[in-house]
Amino acid sequence: MQDCTAQGGIVIEDKSRLSRINSRTVKDDASFAIASLKKDQVALIQNVDPTEADRLIAEIAKGFALLESLELQAGMASLAGHRDNVGDYFMTVDKRKDYKIVTPHSEGSHLLGMQMAAFYCLENTTDGGETILMNVDQNSEMWGILRDKVVKGVTKRSLSRSEKSQLRMRYRLNMPEDSLTSDDEILKATTIDSNITLYDVLASPKKLHSNILNQDLHTLWYTTESIDYDSLEQFKNLLLESGLLKQSAGISEFKMFDSDPGLRIGHFGSRYDQLFKCKISYKLQPNDLVIQNNLTWTHGVANWTPSSGHRRIIAAFA
Ligand SMILES: [Fe+2]
Repeated sequence: MQDCTAQGGIVIEDKSRLSRINSRTVKDDASFAIASLKKDQVALIQNVDPTEADRLIAEIAKGFALLESLELQAGMASLAGHRDNVGDYFMTVDKRKDYKIVTPHSEGSHLLGMQMAAFYCLENTTDGGETILMNVDQNSEMWGILRDKVVKGVTKRSLSRSEKSQLRMRYRLNMPEDSLTSDDEILKATTIDSNITLYDVLASPKKLHSNILNQDLHTLWYTTESIDYDSLEQFKNLLLESGLLKQSAGISEFKMFDSDPGLRIGHFGSRYDQLFKCKISYKLQPNDLVIQNNLTWTHGVANWTPSSGHRRIIAAFA
């Protein structure tokens, strides 16, 4: 893995972590992306024909044994209700209200375990909307401080195979792996029946094995980042210092920039200078395809002046 270090309270910009080419053939582009991700680089392929984006992302996923996961994520996209499928594997991204920012997170959760993220740009004519990709520091002390909001369970007897698969499908719970431990801080208890109780808890972040880098890695999952007011404040300040934050007279307090204000529950102490090694700021252009390791790189987005243009990005995850 290449290295670059945050300095003096800010996250340094390191464009050398972005490997870029002009699209050639699907085979060449896929080889380029796979080689880039193996070095923990972000891959940017420009001028990708929209009719080839599906074939290309499938080839890249195959290179890391993630094709099944790519199909599964596309299949689940419209089930959640806020995303539409585009082609075979891509999906629309969440619509954003005026002046909202997307704080840096890795897509999904430890349980869903998405390993790869890709973003394809259809249109980006706004006066902002820069994508900010940030590389997490595996050795950060933050992993001992931050908390992941997850579901844990307690059972009074051992469960049958069908009971376990029901819990997994209905509540995203793996038993007995996801049993409540003494370290978990309980937020809410839900009794399912006389044998099973589920708990929403704050748990210590756990590592996940990466197919791409073949090692166990810490990840700033959405379930960790989206609960922390400190992360929102840090990202707002980062954008402000970078000259990328758009403001209006009615929007100034940091909580007003939050895309998902219902999720944040406390101040968990996120410090970006400790959590991230470096960042890449890049405004996606039409027909750009960005591919990254979802375990090591977070994605976030700056805001824009509402009437300035349109930003249409589609995403694929595996
Ligand atoms: Fe996301």
